Amino acid sequence: ISQESQRILSASEWITKLYHHLLRYTKDGKEGYQYFKQRGITDEVIDAFQLGFAPNIKDFTAEFLAKKGFHQQTLIKAGLLSQQEDDTAADRFRGRVIFPIRNHLGKTIAFGGRTISDQEPKYLNSPESELFQKGKILYNFDLAKKHIRKQSEVVLFEGYMDVISAFQADVKNAVATLGTSLTESQARLLRRYADTVIICYDADSAGIEAAYKAAELLQKAGCRVKIANLRENMDPDDFITQFGTKQFHDEVLKASLTFTSFYMRYLKKDFNLTLEGDRIQYIEKVLKYLARIDSSVEREYYLKEISHAYNVSMESLQQEIQVYRQKMG
Ligand code: CTP
Ligand code: MN
Ligand code: MN
Ligand code: MN
Ligand code: MN
Repeated sequence: ISQESQRILSASEWITKLYHHLLRYTKDGKEGYQYFKQRGITDEVIDAFQLGFAPNIKDFTAEFLAKKGFHQQTLIKAGLLSQQEDDTAADRFRGRVIFPIRNHLGKTIAFGGRTISDQEPKYLNSPESELFQKGKILYNFDLAKKHIRKQSEVVLFEGYMDVISAFQADVKNAVATLGTSLTESQARLLRRYADTVIICYDADSAGIEAAYKAAELLQKAGCRVKIANLRENMDPDDFITQFGTKQFHDEVLKASLTFTSFYMRYLKKDFNLTLEGDRIQYIEKVLKYLARIDSSVEREYYLKEISHAYNVSMESLQQEIQVYRQKMG
């Protein structure tokens, strides 16, 4: 990597330690500490993720790092300072709690900063650079990878707080994308470490849509995909905070759906199943999908579900599916 990237890594390491220290041990970081306490995060987990706080002071970071010999230009490149309208530079993350983003070697390469006061945007991230490409990084991969390999399973989340809550609930094989959709490169990386990916995205419409897309990509990369069984409109962190570790393991992770079950539910969104015409179209669409499954046992399992739910005979479902299979050749 370039000499400039080296400098940025070094500045990032300093600032990770500073923000973390402020949060843990000083008055300047107390608001940040209290924020994580309110959200139920323990000291031990705050330390494991090196969570921090950037004081709400415009040139706090610049002054600290100037003393360590860093030029302002480097800090702007590193994304720690941002150019203001009046052309001066100010701390990008001021007044926010800090989530250091580490690469697979455990080196901090970027930061996420969350407002603690309903400011917009809720999260700010470092800009992309030679060191930091969102589409290639998975949050917490460095700590999770040995657990992922050992279990041959990974749990994929949307957000920083989901991973942190999961970690605290003893789900150590947890990673997240950084506010963008999963990329092919991330899917391939996960495939190298695990056979199975449990997608545990937020159970809102955006999360369900994203889960469907991620599942397709992961299956293409050769992963077996399951979808966590989260209650409507909750996110994993909400669930853990409200219902605790045991229920998260038993009702959400262990009760994960197969991709097929998830997909059969997912397809319903385009239909009004109280109407007969829609019901028939929905069933046809499901059958088209099921026809692609090679195992006849698996096909029959889902056909039975449809047969019961919509009161259609197994014979006619089987016949219909054979027609689709013949068309596929
Ligand atoms: N995100 C982002 N910028 C935003 C909103 C979200 O980069 N303005 C990213 C963050 O990485 C965030 C993830 O998308 O963790 C998921 O977003 P969301 O579900 O809205 O946030 P939560 O992780 O649930 O955040 P919190 O619980 O702190 O409200
Ligand atoms: Mn510490
Ligand atoms: Mn979300
Ligand atoms: Mn969320
Ligand atoms: Mn959340």
